[in-house]
Order: sequence, then structure tokens, then C-alpha cells
Amino acid sequence: MATERPNLRPNLSIDGLIDELLTLGRISEAEPPIVTRVVFSEADMRARAYVKQLCADAGLTIHEDAIGNIFARWQGSDPTLKPIGTGSHIDAIPNAGLYDGCVGVLGGLEAIRVLQQFGFKPRRSIELVIFTSEEPTRFGIGCLGSRMMANVLTPAQAQALRDKEGHTLDELRAETGFTGALESVALAPGRFHQFVELHIEQGPTLEAEGIDVGLVTHIAAPASLRITLEGEGGHAGGKLMPGRKDALAAASEIILAVEAAAKSTGAIDTVGTVGVCEVFPGAVNSVPSRVKLEVDVRDIDGARRDKVLDKIRSACTDVEQRRSVRITTEMINADPPAACDEIILAALEDSAKAAGKTCKRMVSRAYHDSLFMARIAPVAMLFIPCRSGVSHRPDEYATPEWIGAGVHVLVRTLAVLAS
Ligand code: GLV
Ligand code: MN
Ligand code: MN
Repeated sequence: MATERPNLRPNLSIDGLIDELLTLGRISEAEPPIVTRVVFSEADMRARAYVKQLCADAGLTIHEDAIGNIFARWQGSDPTLKPIGTGSHIDAIPNAGLYDGCVGVLGGLEAIRVLQQFGFKPRRSIELVIFTSEEPTRFGIGCLGSRMMANVLTPAQAQALRDKEGHTLDELRAETGFTGALESVALAPGRFHQFVELHIEQGPTLEAEGIDVGLVTHIAAPASLRITLEGEGGHAGGKLMPGRKDALAAASEIILAVEAAAKSTGAIDTVGTVGVCEVFPGAVNSVPSRVKLEVDVRDIDGARRDKVLDKIRSACTDVEQRRSVRITTEMINADPPAACDEIILAALEDSAKAAGKTCKRMVSRAYHDSLFMARIAPVAMLFIPCRSGVSHRPDEYATPEWIGAGVHVLVRTLAVLAS
């Protein structure tokens, strides 16, 4: 691991970038250091304004699409060439930290500023992309912006999305000033020549092995399943145990079945999580009549992941019959894995070597906007360590040295790709 504090810009240290990350982290719906920045919230809109101002200060030309994806372009000398894309997201799940997504956005911007200050003249434009709602918090589906760019989620499917309060995407877009036709969000394949995303690892490997950067060869296949259970509510004292149709007791069996199904593959790459459990009416003296579960299942092997989903669905059928509750399942998304591009990986590897950074190839178990960018452009990802592998928590942390190493490699890679 590098120990020196890198000088990223001539006469400037990494401290500028770290200050920007800290400033962005303070734009939160929760009390700092907790970062909660749900898409289209007031905090999300303030964070967007902050990042757009930084992009404008760097002389980038800013364009926003109908769903709020932000494109900030550093114009290359040959406008006939397709741009190189880099970037990530700035929305954050509830109770999150500072670095997930934001390192790729502000680190990408820093890489552009470093190149500008070195007097580098890109032949291809370099475009920083800030994707809308990589996190699934509001609408239950991850990578909303990049999913629509890749036309994996159609405008009609997007119109059908509702948040917890029943707000439609169009209502929220209108409120936040994104009013164009959703049809215009999809990008033609080839709109980007190549795309490279810098991100924290969100796992422990790089730190444990003392490696500066990870080169992501594959992104695991994510799926999410919504399970609704309807039983029979009633008075917690008056309703006797025989014959109860307790929706939460039934749901608890399903939660354990998710864990068992994920473990049953015997593969370290299979993971299953129930991260949402909403109980109605949610009163201590009332038998739960309705429960909504949201289940996240992932694997780098898409077929193996699908077998886990089958097991979960058959557990639902079994519980439904035994407990006389009604269970419905709805597949929110079941995406295939993505493979990263060998040419970009080679450029990242060469750049790491030239920058004196150690690197290793690895898979990403988390999903990223690159999973969908891979449908319309060659992509690769660059990981930096995060302390103890912690992510999606307020104590998420990456040292300035780790961030500096990632940006350093990104600077060189963008220079090569844009030349
Ligand atoms: C992205 O945030 C993920 O859940 O992998
Ligand atoms: Mn995340
Ligand atoms: Mn992320």
C-alpha cells in the first residue's frame, strides 16, 4: 500500500479532493457522519447542485437527461470521435457512508482536473457521468439511470414504478425539474467508446492483501424479489394461537429459507439477503396481517443464482400451504453478470504499473452502473480498498492514500484511452 500523500495536481495535494468528499458527505438527510441521500430528495438535489458546480468550475459542459443522469464533458480535439466515459453515483442508501459512488464521481472529476493542469489535450472527449439512483432505496430497483440508458428498463416499465408513498417517477421528475421524455434516456450502443468506473471495493480483499488497486474482470449478477404475505390480523390477546395466520411468523420461515438457499450452493460467491421487512399494522398488540419482504440474491454465476431464486419460490409455496397465508412473489430484476473489456483492463494494468501501484484482477460482488453500461460500451472497473471491507455503513472509510492511488491510475488510464 502506498504511504506517501500523493500530489495529484501540480502544486495541489489530494486534500482538495478529500475536502470535496467530506463536503458532499455532509449533504445528507441524516445527521453527519451518517450519509442518507435518496434519489430526488432535497439532499440529492443539493448534492447534484454541488457536484455540477464543481464540474462547471472545471470548465466541463453539463447536460442532464430526462431522468437526471448528469453528463459533464471535457471536449476533446476530435469531435468526430466517441467519448471516454467515467463516473459513478452520488445517491446513498439510508445509513450509508461517504465513499460508495462518490469516489468514482469526485475521483473521476479530479482525474480530469489533473489532466487539465498537466496541459493534456484529449483527442476523445472525456465525459464524467453521474448516474441517477444507482441505489434501489426509493423505487426498489437498482441502477435506474444506467438501466434506462441501456434500455434494459423501458419507459413504460419506469412509469409503473412507485415509491413507498405511491409517488410515480413522473411526479418526482416534475417536482425536481426533469421533464423530458423518458424515451430519450436510452443511449445508442457506441455512444461511449469506452467506460471506466472507479469505486471502493466494498469487500476486504485489497486491504487484507495490501494491494493498491483491483481490476474488475466481472460484475456479479444481481436479482431482487419482492414477497408479499397476507394472513389474518387481530387482537394479540384475543386471537388464540391455534388457527392463527400470522404473516410475520410465516415471513420468518421465508427469511431463513433465503439464507439456507444461498448457503446451499456451497459457493462463496452466492449471497442472499432480506434487507426489507415491512410489517402491517406494526403494533405490538396486533397480529401481523401483512408483510412485505425484499430479497437480494447475487452470484457471479447467473444460472446458479437462478436456482437459488427457484428454491426461495418453492419455500414460499410450502409456507403458503402449511400456514394458510397468501404469498405472492414479484421478480423486480434478475440481471445477468457482466464481463469487463480486456483492452481497458490492459490499460488499467499498464497504468497501475507505470504509477508504481500494485494491482490484482478480481470480481465485483456488488453491482454498479457499469453492469448496465457494459450493454452499450466496453467497460472496466477500478477498485480501491475500503477499511475492513465495510460499506453501506456510516463507518465506511478509504484513506487519502488509497483514494490517491486509484485516482492516479485513473488519470493515466484516461490519458491513454482518450489519446
Ligand atoms: C450497490 O449498491 C449494491 O447493492 O451492490
Ligand atoms: Mn451502494
Ligand atoms: Mn456504489
